[in-house]
Amino acid sequence: STPLKIGVAGLGTVGAGVLALLERNAGIIATRAGRPITVCAVSARDRSRDRGLSLEGLRWYDDASQMATDDQIDVVVELIGGSAGPAKELVTAALGQGKAVVTANKAMLALHGTELARCAERNAATLAYEAAVAGGIPAIKALREGLAGNQLSRVTGILNGTCNYILTCMREQKREFADVLAEAQALGYAEADPTFDIDGVDAAHKMAILAALAFGQPVAFDAVHVEGIRDITATDILLAEELGYRIKLLGIAEQDDAGVTARVHPCMVPVSHPIAVVEGVDNAVVAEGDFVGRVVLEGRGAGAGPTASAVVADLIDIARGRHTPVWGTAVSELTPRQVLPMDRH
Ligand code: HSE
Repeated sequence: STPLKIGVAGLGTVGAGVLALLERNAGIIATRAGRPITVCAVSARDRSRDRGLSLEGLRWYDDASQMATDDQIDVVVELIGGSAGPAKELVTAALGQGKAVVTANKAMLALHGTELARCAERNAATLAYEAAVAGGIPAIKALREGLAGNQLSRVTGILNGTCNYILTCMREQKREFADVLAEAQALGYAEADPTFDIDGVDAAHKMAILAALAFGQPVAFDAVHVEGIRDITATDILLAEELGYRIKLLGIAEQDDAGVTARVHPCMVPVSHPIAVVEGVDNAVVAEGDFVGRVVLEGRGAGAGPTASAVVADLIDIARGRHTPVWGTAVSELTPRQVLPMDRH
């Protein structure tokens, strides 16, 4: 059978993880995909860097955007990052050529998701992004496919591993935010701009994506209320614990007859709630639907292995010819909902 040929743009932690996964699990992947998935081209900033990978036999591109016009490539995997610039140029160009795109780029989708979905539709191309939200947790598939029969009322999540790790260390070791910050960043999960993590921006990108999917509305990052964890003290955490709560940075999107709200801020979560005991770098996503009730998903939200796992799941879907609209609904069917002010809560 004809292999699915992919080009990988960006060979950082995740890119290297994708190559390693595709190689190690090639047998089961070919069975599940119905054909082999083969990397034929790669692109990164620095060709000489040692990534512990052999790039022999792969076409190298200094300029990732050239992958869009490489006839040998069926799918472009965009792992460059950044909401605009080279990542968005590559994705737009590849979709424009009718190529499928797999991306982990939450900032790009949160800011330009509706525009990119339109571009994908115009060119009958797939744009898949399981890796963009909550790393290895299949949150996108859960909302878009697994729960598609439900009217969803609320989606809640711990969506930033760096913040969850900081809050966990502060509680367990009774240390202050500034003391544990550097350790959290040394884990390698932090964004290129680490203020995106601690100020809640990264979680808000992911929440904008989940809210769009859950409620069938255009992505609206600007409408997400954002507050991070900088001002949380060890005393706050201790007092919350005495009252039976854990402090978590949560993303919350809700829908009722009046409209939609989406927000990211620190919350007191009762220890009896499953999300309260999600500790360290783990993420969690909780969805509430009218027929299914509450669904809780937990797992690694970042890192090479979990993120590669999500990227490869998308590649297998594409190899199989499975195609769903980017936001679960055709762009023309997305319903702009009134985004309610926060003081309603
Ligand atoms: N900076 C993110 C985190 C990486 O800490 O969770 C995964 O999106």
